[in-house]
Amino acid sequence: MSAPDASPLRLGIAGLGTVGIGVVKIVQRHAEMLEARTGRKVVITAVSARDRTKNRDADLSSYAWEVDPVALATREDVDVFVELMGGHEGAAKDATMAALKAGKDVVTANKALLAHHGQALAELAEGAGRVIRFEAAVAGGIPVIKALTEGLAGNAIRRVMGVMNGTCNYILTRMETAGLPYETVFEEARQLGYLEADPQLDVGGIDAGHKLSILAAIAFGTKVSFEHVVLEGIGCISIDDIRRAADMGYKIKLLGVAQMTGRGLEQRMMPCLVPAASPLGQLQGGTNMVVIEGDSVGQIVLRGAGAGEGPTASAVMGDVLDIARGTRLPTFGQPAARLADPIPAAVSAPAPYYLRLQLLDKPGALAKVAAALGDAGVSISRMRQYGHADTTAPVLIVTHKTTRDAIDVAIAALPATGVVEGQPVALRIEEV
Ligand code: NAP
Ligand code: HSE
Repeated sequence: MSAPDASPLRLGIAGLGTVGIGVVKIVQRHAEMLEARTGRKVVITAVSARDRTKNRDADLSSYAWEVDPVALATREDVDVFVELMGGHEGAAKDATMAALKAGKDVVTANKALLAHHGQALAELAEGAGRVIRFEAAVAGGIPVIKALTEGLAGNAIRRVMGVMNGTCNYILTRMETAGLPYETVFEEARQLGYLEADPQLDVGGIDAGHKLSILAAIAFGTKVSFEHVVLEGIGCISIDDIRRAADMGYKIKLLGVAQMTGRGLEQRMMPCLVPAASPLGQLQGGTNMVVIEGDSVGQIVLRGAGAGEGPTASAVMGDVLDIARGTRLPTFGQPAARLADPIPAAVSAPAPYYLRLQLLDKPGALAKVAAALGDAGVSISRMRQYGHADTTAPVLIVTHKTTRDAIDVAIAALPATGVVEGQPVALRIEEV
């Protein structure tokens, strides 16, 4: 056995925002502990950000400053390039590729980069004999990449699902607890600084979709295929739906599900109903939860902070310490050259659906709706009509398992019944 490397591990950090400064603080605060755990010092040699004059909550005076992240990534005195700038093109991509080509290992928190270029980066890293690690990219402080890649490596994974965008979970749970409409809570989230610079990344499900596509690649041994994630955001969710779903024993979550079926790989990130009493149903505020189902282990539930300085920097440092210890793993748990081209499932596995309709309160109206559903092959499991002051009645229907296609056919047939007002709401009920 060769002697472990005892030379200092030298980090170059590009990006000194929330996460970058969090990493600097851990390296400074825990220098002795990090050395004790890895057998070598972990030091920062150089940093980069856009604005050198910005006041940052850490002493950076002993680090070299590079204006250009690519120059930082390729410095002689950098062993590990730590990419904490964000964005899937431009500086983040250029500097990451430059670092790998220059023989550096890379640690990043950038889910967009991995979702869009994961395969190319994995091939580049593995071809160069380097590693690219990205624990912080999915569910912040929760060590889900490590769990899937290492601890659960002996399992055939059946399904991975989770709430992976804290901002959306904050918005949905705040709507519920405060009884406030989406627009008001969205504005609150903006004031609190929870939203990404482009809020659509959060509320449109894109950020969470990036994360799901990364987990799916590891879980099912496929190339990352964010382009095949079926995405729906939370902008369509009303306080009415949150209340009605609660009446029927459910919570609404922006839920990501990835599973390999006989029809191919399913990846969807969309608002779903989950049982209120389930761990996912009970998840409050900005917390994340990832549920992994393996053939031997059964179900594992991981819960924790999905964002923020400390939790995200914690995940970055976990990767840095693995590199310091000499742990070398293929990027997505198996060699990039062996990852399969995913065949996306054309249709999702059948599930029960929640339907909310505004029905004209007149004789035979329910019968017409039931007939339209029946003609589309949709069978009703439960139904509830609410008291009302005007001429239309809110009606909720929970169907037996059916397909989204059948639900869409039924919804398309509803206007012809002449008894449904407005646009019906249809949400999948996920069995968790
Ligand atoms: P942030 O606070 O906006 O910080 C970004 C940093 O990158 C800033 O220091 C910025 O410089 C620097 N930067 C941006 N473009 C640059 C360029 N072209 N050249 C040099 N420096 C550049 O972002 P963050 O929240 O720390 O997020 C960093 C990464 O972590 C992103 O990929 C994000 O998705 C991921 N992440 C974040 C969280 C979280 O809770 N924040 C959680 C999980 C993952 P200036 O400071 O000079 O503007
Ligand atoms: N915008 C993300 C969230 C940040 O709300 O979860 C962490 O990736």
